[in-house]
Amino acid sequence: DRRLKIAPSILSADFAALGAECRAVEEQGADWVHVDVMDGAFVPNLTFGAVAAKAMRPHIRGVMDVHLMVARPDDWIADFVAAGADFITIHPESGPHTHRTLQSIRKAGVKAGLALNPGTGLDGLEWLLDDIDLICVMSVNPGFGGQSFIPSALPKIAAIRNLIADRPIHIEVDGGVVPQNAGAIVAAGADVLVAGSAVFKGGSLAAPDVYGRNIAAL
Ligand code: DX5
Ligand code: ZN
Repeated sequence: DRRLKIAPSILSADFAALGAECRAVEEQGADWVHVDVMDGAFVPNLTFGAVAAKAMRPHIRGVMDVHLMVARPDDWIADFVAAGADFITIHPESGPHTHRTLQSIRKAGVKAGLALNPGTGLDGLEWLLDDIDLICVMSVNPGFGGQSFIPSALPKIAAIRNLIADRPIHIEVDGGVVPQNAGAIVAAGADVLVAGSAVFKGGSLAAPDVYGRNIAAL
């Protein structure tokens, strides 16, 4: 299903009300909820673990899209499977056994994703195309919301689009996605847009319809 999907990243949401924020973005048109897990080691920021994802799960009717920005993903797969993740996306930069980790996600009946940092090439990707359901192209250096889109992500998305050909693999773009660049990102081949600050900025639980306008603008 290559229909465009918007996946608000809760990194920019109100962390004191994550359940309500998940409900608000879904009510306002979000297709997926993108859950950014950071361990303070793989990236210079620390968000939360599987306990928070588990707490959010009952407030997400649709897809819970877990992005593991962690140094030792193998340590956490089981916990995020138990938390109810629909997708678990790992970084090949986090260790030498990417294929094995992807297999462990699939074995648990969860969809497997691979997230490529801006400086990571496509070398080796051709050997993983049967083991992934999603490729996440990082268009910012992971760790923070509100950064600017890195333009070299556009040709990278197009190259991945070519490599995937007609395989049922989502191309998700993550970082600095705003209404001004969303068209070019989709034209390059993306079918899932992650947006944190573009959706949540200026929003609040007092004015959740802001989320709807921000999502629609993408
Ligand atoms: C960054 C995260 C992104 C981030 C996107 O490490 O993986 O999902 O939250 O936030 P914006 O859309 O504000 O760049
Ligand atoms: Zn992310």
